[in-house]
Amino acid sequence: MSELSIGVDIEEISRFKNKSLENDIDFLNRIYTEKELIYCYKSANYAQHLCVRYCAKEAVVKALSDFKISDVFYSDIEILNNKNGAPYVNISKYPNLKVKVSLSHCKTYAVANVLIIKD
Ligand SMILES: CC(C)(COP(=O)(O)OP(=O)(O)OC[C@H]1O[C@@H](n2cnc3c(N)ncnc32)[C@H](O)[C@@H]1OP(=O)(O)O)[C@@H](O)C(=O)NCCC(=O)NCCS
Repeated sequence: MSELSIGVDIEEISRFKNKSLENDIDFLNRIYTEKELIYCYKSANYAQHLCVRYCAKEAVVKALSDFKISDVFYSDIEILNNKNGAPYVNISKYPNLKVKVSLSHCKTYAVANVLIIKD
């Protein structure tokens, strides 16, 4: 039988407003994959995209803890978008977990909800 777990996180977008590929690359590489950085920095509103992905990674870590999984780091969790813009998650160490994610941002905050299904 499948097991389910959920996670949620909310963050202030201002935390990410001054992050640049030039000055903060070590920080960015610890958290984001190359594909995520390409997606985020395509936009003038890069901070909201960085922030909401950070939320999604925290939400995934929360959901994984319910399965007693604690060896996944933020850069192992990749949040990409399909051709309609809908986000999806790859967890490189646990490719068999099914992950559903929903993201939202306003001017100030970003939020992510995650559902993980383990068959
Ligand atoms: C999807 C939609 C409702 C997002 O609402 P919004 O208020 O503009 O944006 P929010 O701040 O709440 O959410 C933004 C996030 O929504 C997610 N998103 C974008 N398109 C999405 C979609 N089609 N389905 C689910 N999530 C989507 C993205 O993760 C995005 O964040 P990101 O760019 O950092 O990854 C809006 O873009 C929309 O109505 N799009 C048209 C519908 C569509 O694209 N349909 C596809 C054909 S069926």
